[in-house]
Amino acid sequence: MNDNQHPTSRISGFHKRSIGERLNLVAEGRGLSPESLAHLQGGGQVALSVVDKMSENVIACQALPLSMGLNFRINNRDRLVPMAVEEPSIVAAASNAARLVRICGGFVGEADPAVMTAQVQLDEVPDPIAAKVRLESHKEALLALGNEAIPRMVSRGGGCRDLEVRVVDVESGLLVVHYYVDVGHAMGANLVDQVAEHVAPEICRLVGGQIGLRILSNLPLRRLVRCEARVSAEALGGEELADGIARASRFAEKDVFRAVTHNKGVMNGIDAVALALGQDWRSIEAGAHAFAALHGTYRPIATWSRTEDGLLGRIELPLAVATVGGSTQVHQGVRAAFELLGVEDARELAVVMAAAGLACNLAALKALAGEGIQRGHMRLHNRKAEAEAARALEEIGR
Ligand code: MEV
Repeated sequence: MNDNQHPTSRISGFHKRSIGERLNLVAEGRGLSPESLAHLQGGGQVALSVVDKMSENVIACQALPLSMGLNFRINNRDRLVPMAVEEPSIVAAASNAARLVRICGGFVGEADPAVMTAQVQLDEVPDPIAAKVRLESHKEALLALGNEAIPRMVSRGGGCRDLEVRVVDVESGLLVVHYYVDVGHAMGANLVDQVAEHVAPEICRLVGGQIGLRILSNLPLRRLVRCEARVSAEALGGEELADGIARASRFAEKDVFRAVTHNKGVMNGIDAVALALGQDWRSIEAGAHAFAALHGTYRPIATWSRTEDGLLGRIELPLAVATVGGSTQVHQGVRAAFELLGVEDARELAVVMAAAGLACNLAALKALAGEGIQRGHMRLHNRKAEAEAARALEEIGR
């Protein structure tokens, strides 16, 4: 234990243990339910009857490794971070970077309330500028109308918080109303779609035109997460490496070709946690890259700058994630991952995901600015090649 309540995320020699031993180590003291423990001990098989309800035309399951990101200390609390990803070296790299950050105090982050954006499109509005003024003058009534669509969310403390009217194209009378809806611990897509569909006829009655789309935006700018990490040059392995990482970050800030690869490295961490925890990673990806390009040029969502004694890393992006709904309840593997991670709500989850993204980014830049990516990366890739060769031999022997 590293504090009174929460077990440590620093488990040395973890990778050298057998899978069964690793599972015992992480299960210890983390209150895994008997169902989750049995599920993990069984290798993570999910009943076909369950997956058959998650999608259509199902014929089997497609399994991925479920790994543990170690050493994470986030907002003064240790966290074991479940990660599901097919690419070798990501989990090791994230754990190594988290160890460096941990030595220097850990990650510090915060997430906005879970406010999603819904869009109601109107075309051919006769006078869009006047329509905007008219809708804004009915704001309170329109918000109350939106709340009618989601009474249970309102009773749980969520609901419509604000709206904005955007004149997108005067010529064609294209007007868009944004509803900002607090969706609590949910991802919120269904909730905001319900709001958009419910309010559209009244909006149209007020200003005319033709109702178009009524759907969430996957760019929820009022649902951002921010996370920071400090690493000393000493922990990194020297001033030269710290300078190299800062220069690598500047490269991404100045060059779109580098920025996209830089962000891919960030998303290695965020997507792996998203997948382990049953989140809608397509929406996360769409939002992250749109955010990166928000001001006209595509930019890095995480950056590193020099401080007196090392580096300061910062990440910011929209993250629509959930601790309820979607596959969070139906998929036993996802439930087990939630139990291991132990987050209270969607905002805490967002901070963990941002920390995982920042850790992956630090690990990538450290390798790239130092010995190059190939050495460590290829060592772990070779393990996969060995496994493939062993499997091929086994098949020949059959
Ligand atoms: C590989 O999955 C990710 C990296 O390309 C990220 C980067 O270049 O920053 C190593």
